[in-house]
Amino acid sequence: MALGGRHIVLLLMLSLCGLLACSPTVRYQVLSALFDGVPPPARKQQLTVGVDTLNQTDSARLVAVMAVHTPRYQYHEPYVKKECNKCHSEQHMGRMVADEPQMCYNCHENRTYHYKHGPAGAGYCSACHEPHRSGYNNLLLGDGNNLCYSCHEQSAIAQDKLHRNQNPRTKCVDCHNAHSSDNYGVLQAGACYSCHDKKISQNKFMHGPVAGNYCATCHQRHDSPARHLLMADGNNLCLGCHQDTRAYSTPEHNEGQKICTDCHNPHGSDKEFMLD
Ligand code: HEC
Ligand code: HEC
Ligand code: HEC
Ligand code: HEC
Ligand code: HEC
Ligand code: HEC
Ligand code: HEC
Ligand code: HEC
Ligand code: HEC
Repeated sequence: MALGGRHIVLLLMLSLCGLLACSPTVRYQVLSALFDGVPPPARKQQLTVGVDTLNQTDSARLVAVMAVHTPRYQYHEPYVKKECNKCHSEQHMGRMVADEPQMCYNCHENRTYHYKHGPAGAGYCSACHEPHRSGYNNLLLGDGNNLCYSCHEQSAIAQDKLHRNQNPRTKCVDCHNAHSSDNYGVLQAGACYSCHDKKISQNKFMHGPVAGNYCATCHQRHDSPARHLLMADGNNLCLGCHQDTRAYSTPEHNEGQKICTDCHNPHGSDKEFMLD
């Protein structure tokens, strides 16, 4: 492997590693970045256990324990490709090419929507993700709901009136987006249908905002006192978007005497113009 200029940083790290006597893991990370075939420290540790000196039951147990405790790592592609300098600065040892989340957005699309989840909205990607590798999918720091419970009180969620009757095996990310979304509560687009009838989304003629899953343009939080949890009452809800009031003074609109939902279904219907 040729040692180009951009490996100088790594060489510095390597010699520093020698001086500071860093951990086998860090040493391995630095070495493997420079040379191929460096044995990972975990493998060395396994060999020094000396399986053959153990009796049958012990070695069976050891295999079982290893199966449980040896995580199958998922690796971050730029780390595998040794593109260390895409994140680590070549000029300043120990520094990054950019702060989070910009460093991540150098390669990942910034998909930030209106409602942002606390730490992701603030750009602390590493609050949930590992930069190099992880024993969990999506390079996460923890598994499934446990990741969420590392910051959210499990008992508080379990007692919440919205979450109380949920199947405990439902994943938080089935309903919430971990990063951001266009639905309040950072809900996933289809989240409402895990409890409400999917029929709303299966009409032949769908209302624009319903088709786009923007439920929250008309509905608000479940603890709201409003009728049907609506944002506004009567025609004002509709006129918030359909602003040409003169258009609704036509004969078929009954000269604007009735309310819109007397004739139109707000979600959609199988009749044209979402007529009831
Ligand atoms: C996607 C960006 C990214 C890539 C690619 C990357 N790193 Fe890192 N690395 C980080 C971040 C973020 C940290 C954590 C820094 C901190 O804790 O402040 C880190 C930490 C480290 C550390 C400190 C010890 C540790 O593991 O926490 C070493 C050593 C290191 N990286 C070496 C490398 C090497 C060698 C490569 C290339 C094989 C590499 N990194 C590739 C982002 C990256
Ligand atoms: C040098 C480019 C680069 C940088 C910088 C980078 N990534 Fe990635 N990342 C990739 C590529 C390439 C993939 C694999 C293809 C994909 O899934 O898009 C990936 C995949 C991922 C995945 C999915 C892994 C999986 O198991 O499916 C996550 C999560 C991720 N990156 C998070 C981050 C975070 C957080 C940062 C900032 C700390 C970051 N990335 C910085 C290039 C980069
Ligand atoms: C609160 C924890 C949390 C934070 C903070 C967070 N993520 Fe994630 N991220 C997740 C979870 C959980 C998943 C897996 C999503 C799923 O299973 O539906 C994920 C998946 C990903 C993926 C792979 C899937 C995809 O959507 O492409 C990328 C890339 C990613 N995150 C990048 C980032 C970046 C960049 C940041 C910082 C702006 C960030 N994440 C901050 C929890 C988080
Ligand atoms: C690193 C800490 C951290 C982790 C991990 C975390 N959260 Fe959060 N979460 C926060 C913070 C901080 C807030 C903002 C609290 C506030 O604004 O009062 C928040 C708020 C929320 C909200 C309310 C958003 C709103 O607009 O009403 C939801 C929903 C949520 N988190 C779900 C999750 C889910 C699902 C996960 C797991 C994928 C998760 N959180 C993991 C820190 C975290
Ligand atoms: C079946 C769908 C669903 C699942 C699964 C779900 N939530 Fe929620 N969650 C909601 C809805 C709906 C809201 C209400 C949004 C609002 O009113 O802001 C909500 C609100 C929240 C809030 C903000 C309000 C509050 O109670 O503080 C947090 C935090 C939260 N969820 C965390 C979680 C966590 C953590 C998990 C996983 C253990 C989870 N949720 C699983 C549907 C779900
Ligand atoms: C354009 C505004 C609008 C949008 C967008 C909207 N709704 Fe509604 N929704 C209403 C109105 C108005 C009512 C009250 C209907 C009535 O008065 O009979 C209602 C009633 C409801 C009800 C209770 C009555 C019923 O039909 O079961 C549910 C549940 C509901 N909506 C769910 C949703 C969901 C889920 C979405 C997103 C997919 C959504 N709504 C999007 C306006 C809207
Ligand atoms: C965890 C299950 C759950 C999820 C997810 C959920 N809801 Fe509900 N929703 C309920 C329950 C239970 C009620 C009835 C209890 C009440 O009226 O407070 C309700 C009531 C409603 C009502 C009032 C219905 C009426 O007839 O007045 C509307 C509107 C509504 N939800 C919209 C939504 C929207 C929009 C979403 C997605 C953002 C959503 N819900 C997600 C459980 C859920
Ligand atoms: C958040 C904005 C918004 C609100 C609020 C809203 N609409 Fe709409 N409406 C739209 C959009 C977007 C379209 C699609 C326009 C298009 O396709 O040209 C639409 C289309 C329609 C159509 C025509 C459908 C067709 O087949 O051509 C009717 C009828 C309608 N809305 C009635 C209503 C009624 C009744 C209400 C109140 C319950 C309402 N709208 C509230 C955004 C909204
Ligand atoms: C008396 C019944 C009735 C009421 C009340 C009514 N509509 Fe209509 N609406 C209709 C009919 C019938 C059509 C089909 C008209 C046509 O053929 O041009 C229609 C068509 C529409 C269209 C699509 C055609 C266009 O002009 O773009 C929109 C948008 C619309 N209505 C919005 C509204 C709104 C907003 C309200 C409340 C302010 C409302 N309607 C109240 C019966 C009604």
